[in-house]
Amino acid sequence: MGNNNNNLTTSWGAPVGDNQNSITAGSRGPTLIQDVHLLEKLAHFNRERVPERVVHAKGAGAHGYFEVTNDVTKYTKADFLSEVGKRTPLFIRFSTVAGENGSADTVRDPRGFAVKFYTEEGNYDIVGNNTPIFFIRDAIKFPDFIHTQKRHPQTHLKNPTAVWDFWSLSPESLHQVTYLMGDRGIPATFRHMHGFGSHTFKWTNKDGDGVWIKYHFKTEQGVKNLHPDVATKIAGENPDYHTEDLFNAIENKDFPAWKLYVQIMPLEDANTYRFDPFDVTKTWSQKDYPLIEVGRMVLDRNPENYFAEVEQATFSPGTLVPGVDVSPDKMLQGRLFAYHDAHRYRVGANHQALPINRPRTDVKNYQRDGQMRFDDNGKGSVYYEPNSYNGPTESPENKQASFPVSGIAESVAYDHNDHYTQAGDLYRLMSKEEQDRIVQTIVNEMTPVEKEEIKVRQIGHFYKADPDFGTRIAKGLGLEVPQEVK
Ligand code: HEM
Repeated sequence: MGNNNNNLTTSWGAPVGDNQNSITAGSRGPTLIQDVHLLEKLAHFNRERVPERVVHAKGAGAHGYFEVTNDVTKYTKADFLSEVGKRTPLFIRFSTVAGENGSADTVRDPRGFAVKFYTEEGNYDIVGNNTPIFFIRDAIKFPDFIHTQKRHPQTHLKNPTAVWDFWSLSPESLHQVTYLMGDRGIPATFRHMHGFGSHTFKWTNKDGDGVWIKYHFKTEQGVKNLHPDVATKIAGENPDYHTEDLFNAIENKDFPAWKLYVQIMPLEDANTYRFDPFDVTKTWSQKDYPLIEVGRMVLDRNPENYFAEVEQATFSPGTLVPGVDVSPDKMLQGRLFAYHDAHRYRVGANHQALPINRPRTDVKNYQRDGQMRFDDNGKGSVYYEPNSYNGPTESPENKQASFPVSGIAESVAYDHNDHYTQAGDLYRLMSKEEQDRIVQTIVNEMTPVEKEEIKVRQIGHFYKADPDFGTRIAKGLGLEVPQEVK
């Protein structure tokens, strides 16, 4: 069956007689409600938007593949990493964090780096950023933090006072703030930045032995950043600059690539390492845990439809495969709830069945029905478990790796409060010119803050990271470093 002609049809497949003129009562009369094609067209148009992502709303995506280049089977039984040379198709979405869908690409902001691997054992998502750390380390602070990054409820303007108020009262943010205010805060393109899983994850091998790991995607294009003045100019001239760059590079067959590495920490080291390795505001020293190569990611195909593929893509750090587990990182634990919940709200209960999200393996379970159930819904197959009809059953060898727990259940903070050493190290690592730029950037960003006490509190944090850093920022703002931090 099918219409072998080029006739325009309604959404119910019937040919349309006129798509340019609505049916009116006489040439000057009112429009008739019986023009059902018009009604359908207007009604569907009204429903063209799904809610944008509450964070990371502006983004660009691409298809590609991952190829294993090093044998890591002694660390993980993950099937997609089981053999050197094995290739797995993937989809990636890059994004900014705070701006709305349609906001400018070249702003100072972390960049999202979300990868969906379509493995033979189901989908695996690494939902990271272009920074190895984050501003906070407990999920309970995330909604407050994001409120400060979004618009003021009355003025609907961005609000630097809220941003610095929150950061100055949350000193665990200092490392990420230093990273963000430095040159890497504005990447030249999505292709010229690294990606990180940021959190600590756990790999388990086929004997059940585990290790803690951190993911690092290193760009083969080299790291390049934009000077803030250039970035501001581009934001006005071409707000979609990064989106366009990625699309054109792939269209011109200049396929961007990244090498994937992991840092590996023996499980027992987590009890004795000099800070908590699950605290996402810290990096692990590469001297202690060097990078081990895993494979190579290449992006070689553009989406054919932005909405279907990029907007409807749903990534979650809880989309895991056997051989990869989570860690007790308090941010990661909260994210395990937040993402699928957001997807059910934003895209719907059956979002995982959409072509971009659907695993390349068969999905066999007893979940049925729900809005927009557009596949065969399991037809007449058995729809409950346990059953006597040969329905799919669990495979105990794929249980999540077990782990010991101890202690008293209560609301507790990470007990390590050195927020300063790694932020200071980062400042000291910068060239003299980059130090000049970061000081100037911070002075510019903090100047509009309304309350002096917020500026003074934040200067204290920069000073504790490095006296030169804090003193120069204080000077730039025409203020003193508070006596008690000296
Ligand atoms: C997107 C929540 C921390 C990276 C999102 C979304 C939510 C969310 C609700 C929108 C999802 C959607 O509508 O599809 C949270 C919460 C966090 C947290 C509650 C802390 C507890 C982080 C961290 C990272 C990160 C630490 C990076 C290491 C991303 C990325 C996206 C995203 C890359 C965009 C995914 C895409 O392209 O669709 N986050 N987030 N988030 N988040 Fe987070």
